[in-house]
Parts: sequence; structure tokens; C-alpha cells
Amino acid sequence: MKMLALYSIKGGVGKTASAVNLAAQSALHGYRVLLWDLDPQAATTYYLRAKPKVKGGIDKLIKGKASFDKVIYDTDVERLDLLPASFDARELDQLLDERKPSHLRKLLKPIRDDYDLVILDCPPSISVLSEQVFSSVDALLVPLIPTTLSLRTLKQLRSHLDEQDYPCSVWPFFTLVDRRKTLHLDVMAQLSSEHKLLLSTTIPSSSVVERMGITQAPLSQFAARTPAALAYATLWEEVAQRLR
Ligand SMILES: Nc1ncnc2c1ncn2[C@@H]1O[C@H](COP(=O)(O)OP(=O)(O)OP(=O)(O)O)[C@@H](O)[C@H]1O
Ligand SMILES: [Mg+2]
Repeated sequence: MKMLALYSIKGGVGKTASAVNLAAQSALHGYRVLLWDLDPQAATTYYLRAKPKVKGGIDKLIKGKASFDKVIYDTDVERLDLLPASFDARELDQLLDERKPSHLRKLLKPIRDDYDLVILDCPPSISVLSEQVFSSVDALLVPLIPTTLSLRTLKQLRSHLDEQDYPCSVWPFFTLVDRRKTLHLDVMAQLSSEHKLLLSTTIPSSSVVERMGITQAPLSQFAARTPAALAYATLWEEVAQRLR
């Protein structure tokens, strides 16, 4: 069972859109996938038409006392399951504070043979929860809007991970890309020369992604032939190759 997280210190960079679309793509390619919504904003949960609630409470789940068949739901996408967010997730930091590193991964032990891949959608912060994410996942997928500030935030993240000696890899990719903007092209060129683990697929800025809020479905379910959907399909292939 591999674990990936959509993570960035910055908000509004496409973590949730990417978590939902990459999870759907991996399921389409035959992976049994669990998408875990760790953000109390519960956008992933909303996109997959579920209620933001962890049955029995998030504290029971973090203590390892929840039964997974009660807290995990099927989605309309075959092979894609969801562990919804709960508004109580704002307590996650407190609940995780005393736990050893990799607690999130250890918690999933009872279901590790049921899934090929777990994708975590994270809130935008650096916190006890994010430290748990860093120690639990195989790689962080970091969406970047191609601006100078994004590059700075990525540097901050990499030096934090280096200082703390976390084993996870950092796989950034560009999203909300507008190829008519010279700044976008310049920033993308700069990072490809600096970061050898940069994923080469870029996700265009496209109103069809915003429409996910109306359709409450991944792009593959309602706009599979659009450039943004095809970009997510290609991005998934690139990620899958690295997971092999
Ligand atoms: N490729 C895209 N093209 C156009 N709009 C996009 C794209 N990706 C995301 N968006 C829109 O940008 C906004 C932020 O995206 P999203 O919620 O995925 O970001 P996030 O990083 O998860 O945000 P947060 O930090 O609040 O969790 C949303 O309104 C979403 O619809
Ligand atoms: Mg989000």
C-alpha cells in the first residue's frame, strides 16, 4: 500500500482538485484507492457527494478504535473509496500531538491489503498533522502556481523536511498554468532546472475544474475529453511510473 499526500503550506493552490482527480485516475487504471480528507473544510468530501462526518468521531479513529467498514464509504467511481472529513478535524492536531511519527500510516494497518494506494488531501498549514503526514507518506505531491512566491514556499518546505530528516520525497507539479503569461513560463523553466523531481506534466487553468463544485464529481466523470482532464490523466501516469 503506497501513500501519497497533496500538500502545500499555501492555500488555494489546487490540492483538493488534484487529490480528487488523481484518485479518480488511479482508480480508472485499476488501483484500489482510498482518498482520506484531512481538511475540516471538507471540499474533497463535498466533491465526492459525501457528508462531512466520521462515524463515531475522529478521536475514536485516531485512537485506532474505529471500525473502518463504518467510516469508509464507496463513491460513484469504481474502486475509489472515501474517508470523509469531519468538522472535528480541527481537533486533529491535539489528537495527534502525543503520537509517534507515522501514526497515520500505522492506523491504516488493518486495511492495508484492501488498497493499493491511499491519497491524503491536507489542509494548508504546517502543523502537528503535517508532521504526521511527512512521516507517513511515500511522497508529497506539491501543487505550485507558477509564481515567484510559490518557489519560495517550496524552498521553505524542502529545507524544513531536510532539517527534520523526513524520508518522504517531494514531487512538485505546476497547476493553474496560463501559458500566455511570460511569468508563468519563466518560473516553470527556472524550477525545472533546479528541482530534478519536478513532475513534467502541467495542469492548465480551466473553468472546467471550477465546475467540479457544481457537478460534485471528478473530471473523468463529466468532462473526460477536456485538456484539464487529459492533463490529470497524464500526470497520474507520471506519478504511477514513480510508484512502481
Ligand atoms: N486547474 C484549475 N483551473 C481553474 N481553477 C482551478 C484549478 N485548480 C483548482 N481550481 C480552483 O481554485 C480554487 C482552489 O482549488 P483547490 O480547492 O483545489 O485548492 P486547495 O489547495 O485545496 O485549497 P485549500 O488550501 O483551501 O484547501 C477552487 O475554486 C478550484 O475550483
Ligand atoms: Mg483543499
